[in-house]
Amino acid sequence: MSIQDNFRLAMRRYIYSVSIMSNKDEKGETNAITVSSVTSISMNPPSLLICINKSSRIHDTLQVGSQFCVNLLNKHQTELSNICSDEDSYEKRFSDEHWNINKVPYLSNAQANIFCKVDKLTSYHTHTIVIGLVEDAKYADEISTLTYVDGEYK
Ligand SMILES: Cc1cc2nc3c(=O)[nH]c(=O)nc-3n(C[C@H](O)[C@H](O)[C@H](O)COP(=O)(O)O)c2cc1C
Repeated sequence: MSIQDNFRLAMRRYIYSVSIMSNKDEKGETNAITVSSVTSISMNPPSLLICINKSSRIHDTLQVGSQFCVNLLNKHQTELSNICSDEDSYEKRFSDEHWNINKVPYLSNAQANIFCKVDKLTSYHTHTIVIGLVEDAKYADEISTLTYVDGEYK
């Protein structure tokens, strides 16, 4: 097996939490993408990173200074995760009634909403590492996070 095959199978042993990154572009159009690559960086400053594939629709809308939200999903939001990771379901991405799209789009019934401003974009081959400065954060009282392991929701 190739190093890529071994690496992929090794990474499938990780348990990921599933989030949707959402934003509005310069024209006010909403975007959403399912992501698992969210990692906190530091508390001072409060910051996180996400790795975004350059081929995704949201990619080119992410500019230094632009705002986005990371919505951590709960166990009942697998369908929303599927919609936001299926390129053929683009039209359905904001059909859920819990989206609030007045300003930076966010899911009002998510496990957590972390509102960020892009601080830095670092290109790495197929992906861009997006570093966000955290501007606000909300969270649900009960913890019921949607997880993904070995290619399946748990
Ligand atoms: C559980 C899960 C986690 C994902 N994590 C990421 C991620 O961290 N970064 C990324 O660029 N794509 C990730 N994807 C893939 C994108 O969601 C998918 O390719 C999406 O269709 C791209 O957006 P687009 O259809 O708007 O181009 C993930 C998909 C799933 C199902």
